[in-house]
Amino acid sequence: MCGIVGYLGEGNSKEILLHGLKELEYRGYDSAGIAILEGDNFSSFKAVGKLVNLEEKTKDFQTKGFSVGIGHTRWATHGKPTELNAHPHLGESSYVVHNGIIENYAELKEELLAEGVNFLSQTDTEVIVHLFEKNLKAGLQPFKAFEKTVQTLDGAYAILLITKGEEETIFFAKNGSPMLVGITQDSNEKFFASSDTPLIGYATEVNYFEDGDYGYVNKEGIVIFNEEGVKKEPSFKTLSQNKLSAQKDGYRFFMEKEIYEQTNVISDTLLGRLHDEEVVFDELPSDLFDGINEIKLCACGTSYHSALSASYLFERYARVKTSVEVASELRYRDPILTTDTLFVAISQSGETADTLETLKMAKEAGLKTLVICNVDNSSMVRLADASILTRAGVEKGVASTKAFATQVTVFWMLSLYLSQKKQTLSNEELKRQICLLREVPAAVVVTDELHEKMKRLSKRYLHGHGFFFIGRDIFFPLALEGALKLKEISYLHAEGYPSGEMKHGPIALADPELFTIALLPEHMLYDKAKSNVEELSARDATICAISPLPFDKADDYIATKKQKDYMLEFFEMMVVVQLLSLEVSIRLGNDVDMPRNLAKSVTVE
Ligand code: AGP
Repeated sequence: MCGIVGYLGEGNSKEILLHGLKELEYRGYDSAGIAILEGDNFSSFKAVGKLVNLEEKTKDFQTKGFSVGIGHTRWATHGKPTELNAHPHLGESSYVVHNGIIENYAELKEELLAEGVNFLSQTDTEVIVHLFEKNLKAGLQPFKAFEKTVQTLDGAYAILLITKGEEETIFFAKNGSPMLVGITQDSNEKFFASSDTPLIGYATEVNYFEDGDYGYVNKEGIVIFNEEGVKKEPSFKTLSQNKLSAQKDGYRFFMEKEIYEQTNVISDTLLGRLHDEEVVFDELPSDLFDGINEIKLCACGTSYHSALSASYLFERYARVKTSVEVASELRYRDPILTTDTLFVAISQSGETADTLETLKMAKEAGLKTLVICNVDNSSMVRLADASILTRAGVEKGVASTKAFATQVTVFWMLSLYLSQKKQTLSNEELKRQICLLREVPAAVVVTDELHEKMKRLSKRYLHGHGFFFIGRDIFFPLALEGALKLKEISYLHAEGYPSGEMKHGPIALADPELFTIALLPEHMLYDKAKSNVEELSARDATICAISPLPFDKADDYIATKKQKDYMLEFFEMMVVVQLLSLEVSIRLGNDVDMPRNLAKSVTVE
């Protein structure tokens, strides 16, 4: 969801900026652009669509010496994805890139228009560069003009601005949207980006900006002010240079690679946290659950589905009252937040705007907060009282797979950790659960036989008027997740439903063109779920049953292994629904990793 890069130095600015934008592609975008200031010469290029279009436009351009440059991938919010709306936006002698939303842009634009300023785009961003130039014209020095501009803006932003007259400077500001700056020890170069990956191989140390930070970089260094205008020192951390996991390794798509990686990343998630008779989270303060009577889980999309799964485990194993909220709903419904509730935000990226805001709300209401996240140093991890990292590694496919798998693994462990504190499970049962957890990596291995079966089967599911994924108990959130995966990458209509709910309305849709993907685990309400599927089969719906037990009413049957427990069946069936979506999407010729209209990290509300 919009990505920002910036570069200052003697290097090949164009290549560095384009490389950075490429690394940010996974965030989703519909246009891109760069602007480079070399001496007092500006060069700017923009293109709609994929980055190859921008590469084509810039193929004859090169910088020769020192330059400053900024780049952007845009995911349209205000105004259509056109070249005019693509960033960088130009004033008279300055360019700006921005990620986020300027909430008061309409008033600011009205004032500027009344003063005779000419706007070229429909974006909220363009007000920034015109405001800056208005402040310059009023006689302020460039940095003061930038500072005053930032103080006028409301909303979420990560901003980079370059201007003639300060040819060796990049101005920056950050509030609510992620941004970091990187350096090396042996050059004066400075690198900006929205996340770590563009800087790998370029910078060795990085400073993550905090909300309210603004300032400038030049050859001499980095000057940062906090939101009170007080100067502060950058806080550098070593940037990991391991890019291995960010490459496709021979798989057709990152999503496919990430499905296969689940067995390894789940092992990483478990590492050091499972003792023989105990689940251990060293990262949690020992008093985190003291005085807690309720858990409120909050997230978006796939992370919301893992939160729903968690609610079954927390209540069943730890007997603690648990509620689950969609972040965009919680934000505006004036919820009752009491201090005996532990607020748990779940996010792969740690940057999702709605989830981040609910975390801030919970903190303001005085609740203890915990974040389950895949990205260390992300905004949510930095904000929460405590965090558990899911250790899934970089997830590049927009459709989340391994992040979901590791989130549910963490939640299963956390429910046992809590059960230890509350003594809700016998020692024997706790030990059994720990043994089961150790079997999860094996349960998610993708066998050739299974993958081949899914490839063959997928051709039968490319048409029809919709899919219902159905399941009971914790298999209901898995059904929701299966339907979301299919929707996201195949663009076919799919819904997740509790099996028992079908007869309360949706069964009216049943006919041979309605595809039901039925999750029928042996160890969770098998007979009940089976009768629900029989009701659909009797009405001629096409049934694809996923179960270890053969089911004669099914049109297609995917046999899963006989497992000891429903949670192992959950993880195995998770892989099946992921592969089904993947293969349907590939057959339809879709871009599996970057599906239309979607962004990996949704940093606007
Ligand atoms: C999953 O496949 C998604 N594309 C999306 O629903 C995602 O899970 C959601 O936007 C939340 O993201 P987060 O986990 O990074 O907060």
